[in-house]
Amino acid sequence: MFETLQAQPADKILALMAQYRADPRETKIDLGVGVYKDATGLTPVMKAVKAAEHKLWEEQDSKSYVGLAGDPAFGDAMVELVLGDSVPRETVAAAATPGGTGAIRQAFELIQMARPDARVFLSNPTWPNHPSILKYLGMEIVDYRYFDDETRGVDFDGMTADLKTARKGDVVLLHGCCHNPTGANLNAVQWQEVIKVLLETGATPMVDIAYQGFGDGLEEDAAATRAVVAAVPEAIVAASCSKNFGIYRERTGILMAVSKDMSAKGLNQQTLAFLNRQNFSFPPDHGARVVTMILNDPTLKAQWIEELESVRVAMLGLRTQLAGELQRLSGSDRFGFLADHRGMFSRLGTTPEMVEKLRVDAGIYMVGDSRMNIAGLNAETVPVLAKAIVDAGI
Ligand code: LMR
Repeated sequence: MFETLQAQPADKILALMAQYRADPRETKIDLGVGVYKDATGLTPVMKAVKAAEHKLWEEQDSKSYVGLAGDPAFGDAMVELVLGDSVPRETVAAAATPGGTGAIRQAFELIQMARPDARVFLSNPTWPNHPSILKYLGMEIVDYRYFDDETRGVDFDGMTADLKTARKGDVVLLHGCCHNPTGANLNAVQWQEVIKVLLETGATPMVDIAYQGFGDGLEEDAAATRAVVAAVPEAIVAASCSKNFGIYRERTGILMAVSKDMSAKGLNQQTLAFLNRQNFSFPPDHGARVVTMILNDPTLKAQWIEELESVRVAMLGLRTQLAGELQRLSGSDRFGFLADHRGMFSRLGTTPEMVEKLRVDAGIYMVGDSRMNIAGLNAETVPVLAKAIVDAGI
């Protein structure tokens, strides 16, 4: 039967990861996959995570199944972390998922179950796995304008004009913070405008928040998501713990469905559990338990926030250094946007040919659409990258 299979398109980000690993050059620089690296190139286990794991190892006396939606304490802790008190907890259905991607996949299936004809509006560009999963599920995609190639900021007029074509029953996928792949984000006033459009059209927002704490701060990065869910009757939120807890391989994420009222919440909760059962049964528990322990223990939480904050500040420092170095070498301000962008990524705004040239000539690996993982840099490699960009004539 397998002879009927056809090769699937390679995931651009993961293919680049493999290409980087195979490159023997010692001077190569990895700005590909969205994984945080410290100044020595390591993706460390956070101290708060280690401490929680240690405690867990000591205290855990069973590895028996938990529940289809995961541990309710994880749901509570994550709803509070992401949504704060923007909506009453009794209206939020929540289910643990295998990572943020698991949350997105489950969210799309939830949408498909509720509205088989729903169109899902995606920012152009967006994380490539969004359209990939939607296509796999046979769901309709509508692109909305997002990135302005000239300013390297948000094409806000284009975005709102396109979102106005959404209708009730459609879903608008928004990046809660730290837009992936561009690094260009809406300001608070623009978020209010988007909310107005959502209310006018009746479309349901779905917020993907995978980088809370990597942009302007833990609370600041959640502000837009909270404003959206507080303003609309129903919303979907997919959150990841991979990046902000640095537990990538533990696959820890959560899907939240903000419901109209408590009875709708009950049905949503049951549906999320059902969907988990169909796809993987019980969600992974280890990462979720570690996250819960950290969020519920004031000492561990304070330590985690401090570590997360130092990661955020380090990335901001690299942004400032890179923008400054490029200004010095190019004698122009045209790279100033790099300091304005937030999160792990910035889209440089150059052609795939130039991206390939940087890879071949200088061993610099960025995604083909010129997305750079800023955390892949350090104080020594920033000048190398800046010189390569200017030398390539970008
Ligand atoms: C990324 O965008 O690089 C990360 O979210 C990792 C992934 O799974 O693509």
